[in-house]
Amino acid sequence: MILIVEPSPSLRGIVNLPGDKSISHRAALFAALAYGESQVDNLLFAGVTKAMLNAITKLGVNWSMSQNTLTVIGKGLDGFQPPDDHLDCGNSATTMRLLTGALAASGLPAILDGSNGLRSRPMTRIVEPLERMGVDITSKNGYAPLELKASPLPLRGINYTLQVASAQVKSCLLLAGLSASMQTQLSEPGPSRNHTERMLTSMGADIRSSQLKLSDHNQYQTTLNPRLPLVLSPLRMKIPGDISSAAFLLVAALITPGSELVLKGVGINPTRTGILDTLQDMGGDIRVVKKSSQAGEPVGDIFVRYSSLRGTRVKGERVVRMIDEFPVLAVAAAYANGETQVSQAQELRYKESDRIGDLCLEIRNLGVQVEEQNDGFRIQGGKTLAGGVVDAHKDHRLAMALALIGLASKKGVMVRNAEIIAESYPEFSNTMLSLGASIKWEEEDGP
Ligand code: S3P
Repeated sequence: MILIVEPSPSLRGIVNLPGDKSISHRAALFAALAYGESQVDNLLFAGVTKAMLNAITKLGVNWSMSQNTLTVIGKGLDGFQPPDDHLDCGNSATTMRLLTGALAASGLPAILDGSNGLRSRPMTRIVEPLERMGVDITSKNGYAPLELKASPLPLRGINYTLQVASAQVKSCLLLAGLSASMQTQLSEPGPSRNHTERMLTSMGADIRSSQLKLSDHNQYQTTLNPRLPLVLSPLRMKIPGDISSAAFLLVAALITPGSELVLKGVGINPTRTGILDTLQDMGGDIRVVKKSSQAGEPVGDIFVRYSSLRGTRVKGERVVRMIDEFPVLAVAAAYANGETQVSQAQELRYKESDRIGDLCLEIRNLGVQVEEQNDGFRIQGGKTLAGGVVDAHKDHRLAMALALIGLASKKGVMVRNAEIIAESYPEFSNTMLSLGASIKWEEEDGP
C-alpha cells in the first residue's frame, strides 16, 4: 500500500498514544513468567507485540485481549511447555532477544526464527554471553534461526561488558540470570532503556543499577542478585503512551505552520526522552507536564506548537536515549535552519533498516541535502522540499518519518510499502487525519 501525504493545513487536537512498544513486549513476556493472573491495560496490540504473544501461546501460556487490556495466566519461571514447532518472531528483534533470554532461564529446547529482515539482525551479541552462562545455543553464523538445546539449570551468573549499549541484550541476559545461582553483572557504555529493570524489580527480582564515572565516559552497571527459587508476582498496570510514536506527532506539529497538539499520558522515562531534549535544543516549543507514575514508569502530558527550528548536534549518550528517533529527527533537521550533525550512531545501521544508508538515500530523493557518514549523517536544512516517491524499506519508523516530509513539502510525498507502519503504530494515519493532515492510502499499481 502507498501512503500519500499532501501539503497540509495546521494540525490541532488532543491525542492518546498507543501503549509503549518496549514496555508492552516486557509486560506480555514477564506476565507469562509470573505466577498467577496479570492484567495489563493499554497494551500495544500491533505487529511486533502479536509476534511475542503468539510465541507465548506456543509455550503453553494462556492469554486473552479484551478492548486493549491483556490478561495472562502465568505459570511461573518453569511453567513453559517445550514448543512443538519453531517460534516465529516475525520482524521483531525485541521478541527474539528477550524470548531467547526467557527460554534460557527455562532450560527448554526451542528454535527461534523470523522474517528475512529479522534474519539479518545481529544475534552474536546475545549468543556469546548466553554460552558463557552455560546455555547450549547456536546461530546461523551470528544470525537467526537460533537453536536452544535443553540446558541444565541453574545457569552461571556472569560479569559481562556489552560493546554497544543495548536494552535488548541487557534484558536477554537479565532474564537468563533469573535462573542463575550467581550474580549477573552487566556493564554498558551508555544509558539504554531500563524498562526491564523497573518491571522485574516491581515483580520481586533484586536488580540494582549504578553509574561509574570513568575519565572519558560513563559506564552503566546493572546487577541482578540471585533469589532462588524466584516467584515473580503478577502485573497490574497501565502501559504509558509510546514516546517513540509520540515523536512523529511532535515533529509533525513542529514543521506544520500554525499547529498545536496535546499528547496525553506519554511515558517520559529519562532513558527514552533524548528526542524531547534534542527537539527543545533545536528551538521546539515543547512543554512536558509530569502527571503520575504507572508501574514504576513516569508519565506526562506533552504540549507542542509549530516552531522555527535550528540545526543541532547529537552524539554520545544522547544517541542511546533516542536510539529509535533518528528517522524522525532527520525530518525536523530537514525543516530546521542550518546544519544538523549526528555522529557516534553506527548502531543505527543494524535496526529494522539501515537507518543511516536507507534514510539518507530516501530523504535525498525528497530533496533533502544530506551527507551520509559511517557513524551518522549531516543535513543542511531550511530549504523548501519538493517531495516525491520513496520506499519504506520494511521499516515502520522510516515509513512514518518519510510520510511527515509531505506535510510541508511542495507537492507531497508517496511512501511505497508503508503498511509496515502497523508493526508499531496501526492508528498513525487515522490519528494524523483526525488532526487535520491531508493523508490517504492507495493500492500499489501492478505486481
Ligand atoms: C528496544 C531497545 C532498542 C530499540 C528497540 C526496542 C527494547 O534496541 O531500538 O526498538 O525494547 O529493548 P537496542 O536496545 O538493541 O538498541
